[in-house]
Amino acid sequence: MNRLPMGALRRTPDIDLDGTWKFRLLPHEREWKSVEVPELWTMREKTDRPHYLNIAMPFDEVPPAVPRHNPTGVYRRSVNLAPYPGRRTILHVGAAEGHLSVTVNGRAVGTSTDSHLAAEFDVTDAVTEGSNTIELRVAKWSAATYLEDQDHWWQSGLSRSVFLYTVPEVHLADVAVVADYEAGHGSLEVTVATVGLDHLHETGWSARIEVLGRTETSPIAPRVVEPAFTTPLSDRSKRSEPQGVPDGLLDLLSLRAADAPIAEELRPVADGMMPPQAKAGTAVFTLGALEVAPWTAETPHLEDLLVQLISPGGDVADAVRLRIGFRRVRVQGRDLLVNGERVLIQGVNRHDVDPRTGRVISRELMLAELSLLKRFNVNAIRTSHYPNDPVLLDLCDEIGFYVVDEADIEGHAFTTTLAHDPRYLPEFLERVSRMVLRDRNHPCVIIWSLGNETGYGPGHDAAAAWVRSVDPTRPLHYEGAIARDWHAGHAASDLVCPMYPSFEALAAFSADPRADRPVIVCEYAYSQGNSTGGLAEYWRLFENLPGLQGGFIWEFKDHALDPDGDGRYRYGGDFGDEPNDGTTLLNGVVFPDLTPKPALYEARGLFSPVRVTSGAEEARAGTLRLRNRQTFADLGAYDLRLQVETEAGPVGAVTLAAPPAAPGTEVAVEVPESIRVLFGTALALTVTVRTRRDAVWAPAGTEISAHQVTFPRPLPRLPRGTGTAHAELRHPLLRREPRLSLWRALTDNDQSFALDNRFLRSGFFQLTPVDVRTDAATATIRYRAAFGDEVVHTRTVTVLDEGDYLLAERVTLPGVTGDGLRVGMEFELVDGFEQARWVGLGPWENYPDRRTSALLGAWESPIGDLAVPYLKPQENGGRGEVTELHLSGPAGTVRTVHATPLHMNVSRYAVSELEAAAHWWELRPSAKTVVHLDIAHRGVGTGLLGPDTRPAYRLSQREYGWQWRLTLTDASA
Ligand code: GAL
Repeated sequence: MNRLPMGALRRTPDIDLDGTWKFRLLPHEREWKSVEVPELWTMREKTDRPHYLNIAMPFDEVPPAVPRHNPTGVYRRSVNLAPYPGRRTILHVGAAEGHLSVTVNGRAVGTSTDSHLAAEFDVTDAVTEGSNTIELRVAKWSAATYLEDQDHWWQSGLSRSVFLYTVPEVHLADVAVVADYEAGHGSLEVTVATVGLDHLHETGWSARIEVLGRTETSPIAPRVVEPAFTTPLSDRSKRSEPQGVPDGLLDLLSLRAADAPIAEELRPVADGMMPPQAKAGTAVFTLGALEVAPWTAETPHLEDLLVQLISPGGDVADAVRLRIGFRRVRVQGRDLLVNGERVLIQGVNRHDVDPRTGRVISRELMLAELSLLKRFNVNAIRTSHYPNDPVLLDLCDEIGFYVVDEADIEGHAFTTTLAHDPRYLPEFLERVSRMVLRDRNHPCVIIWSLGNETGYGPGHDAAAAWVRSVDPTRPLHYEGAIARDWHAGHAASDLVCPMYPSFEALAAFSADPRADRPVIVCEYAYSQGNSTGGLAEYWRLFENLPGLQGGFIWEFKDHALDPDGDGRYRYGGDFGDEPNDGTTLLNGVVFPDLTPKPALYEARGLFSPVRVTSGAEEARAGTLRLRNRQTFADLGAYDLRLQVETEAGPVGAVTLAAPPAAPGTEVAVEVPESIRVLFGTALALTVTVRTRRDAVWAPAGTEISAHQVTFPRPLPRLPRGTGTAHAELRHPLLRREPRLSLWRALTDNDQSFALDNRFLRSGFFQLTPVDVRTDAATATIRYRAAFGDEVVHTRTVTVLDEGDYLLAERVTLPGVTGDGLRVGMEFELVDGFEQARWVGLGPWENYPDRRTSALLGAWESPIGDLAVPYLKPQENGGRGEVTELHLSGPAGTVRTVHATPLHMNVSRYAVSELEAAAHWWELRPSAKTVVHLDIAHRGVGTGLLGPDTRPAYRLSQREYGWQWRLTLTDASA
């Protein structure tokens, strides 16, 4: 109520109202206290805490009922105002989470819902010179709450800035820019709207724009009064002169509209009858054939646009500055085109989250987030699931991201009703239209989204129709419209934007002759816990199959909260919030503090501007072939660092400027002789891509990806059994001797209901030795798994020397489930080991279905740093394809060598400890070293919400056999 219309202009505060306000939380608090705005009271108050729910509402009412218990935060402050003669005073509330009512000096000013967009009120008539009291009352629940049921914390308060600004009585209301780009030229349409002129028959006012060195002026159109019918002649005293009205004049209107034949001589009359008329109070500028560089996410070129309102006397009455970018977005057949080119969407879903403040996001944090994403080659953001702070879009314009801008509509708990409920129709239109009106001048916004998970109904179609009419320059996105049928929903979605599709569904749809729109997956590669398996498989499809153009990883950042700043990250239930959805919000590719998870490194390699397309033979012959994966830019922004990986570590680094290669083309690089001579027994040639120039998002020299050519790997040869045979392994460095392990600390995905508890049903979490038979060198241990199935492990040990063993393992599994987690050996060392060195894949954590970007080499790390502290502890820190492992420290050294590469895990914690802890921070500091060396380890998949790991990465074999060598050297011996 009384909210000013939304527009794209951003005014600077005349009076900043951020800072200290008085606050009390109704219904119970009587005393006022001081708080700092912006803030969410839920991050501070003890009686109304954050509440995490994904789908269900936190109360039992149904729309539009408002729960009776409705915590309401009252923010009050006084402000001294000078007189502002001839100006209007506007109150800007950046974002109020809940239902906002504004009172100024006791006078009700207006109300607003739509928690992630600003509300502005003209308070001129309510304020006085001198002291004024502003009260912002935010009620947690309202009828609109049902449309804000996103998978996120329920929070309440004022999450963005509050300020006052003044404008002249006659001022600029809005500026709408269409900056188009085609065939090497820009064109510009600028519509300037004003307040205070639309009632004038002659305005005398004009608008002036300055852009690209040009200055243009255009009058503000006056109000036009349609001519009344002329009254019939009543004077019969004399013959009147004919007026020259052509016969059939009125028919001309319909003849013209019907494009029916019109006599040649009447054509000019017909054309003049209904001229297009400018909207009263606006001025429109149209500029063509502009020499300007285009905007793309790879080449984010912006121009300044100055818009001024000029009074009849020639004074500048009002002025705004905008940054604009020239580009054209089109859907053509099955392709989404930017400036005529098919772009791949390498995106993430981003929520507003800050662990300390909840959803109060600073510009610094936004810049840090976008810089991080840019350094990891992410090129697109979906603002899941509401419009973000406009500053984020400024930064996306400047740094270069494609944005799917999403309206704040998620009615997840009421998907069958809300979009059909006429009482909610105005909210659908308001929320979508206000977003579009606010953000339409941002070149980064290439797609509008009608919201998320609200079923599909007339509310969406109505909003879609509004957008199509007001902004036909961008395609529409709404997952609900295609969720049940990828061939349907054209009224509300120009894209097929499914969630968590299977690989097979994508491939089949791509091959389907009925497919008629681009597929851009709105959520995929679900990243809860140790996850994101199969990302490379998705990208194999996106890069090779027609009509598939990428998508948005779910999601960017874990939403865990840490209101006290003590590092104890909390998830659902940790605030006593019941019921809750627990850890379902720990699904980012970065931790809450922005530390990238290994999954983001996998994405980095796949999304890199460069791909290595040649193999070992060509490298040995002196050629390295690269593909420029970009769509618009050459490789001039990068340097390449070539280095050779050997079992002894990296050697021979050389840095070259990346060769010129047009976007989408391949180029050959000559491998310098100094590098080639090192190929002898090398493991791999590593090509690291680094930025050549300083950018806002990274200083020159920042590594943005690393790729390899791997050479056929000489596997270690183990000595043949020339020592004494002895079935038992005892050594002072071994706290527990190597024994069979078939279990990992279940990942979130391992516990997906879709896997039907298959791992638990195997009973492999508990192996009880029931029979041990030993002859001289061989021990056969029969285990009983938890539900009685027999597992047989046979080991032959050859003692090569003091503490030096050769082990031949054989494991026979029962066929209970046909799928397992790991098959390998586990041993524990005494305290006193600090450092790990391994030859295999690294340096970051990798699993069989998430290791396309991992690098083969000799790596080193403190043992404690090998862990990945997933906030809910689970299997973590694995590294694959390991042929050699060294552990060292004051206690001594341990070396293992594997004739077949093994999947290693070196941890401070046993599987059972990880499984028992609900939060990583509950794990006690530990000095022990638990080593797993697996002949087989299951992929991680995304099975909690999406495809499970592919069959190749499951464990379906019944028999496993392998050999390895274990050498223990006790420092005290
Ligand atoms: C999707 C939804 C997201 C999130 C995700 C699960 O269905 O759009 O908001 O809930 O599932 O984490």
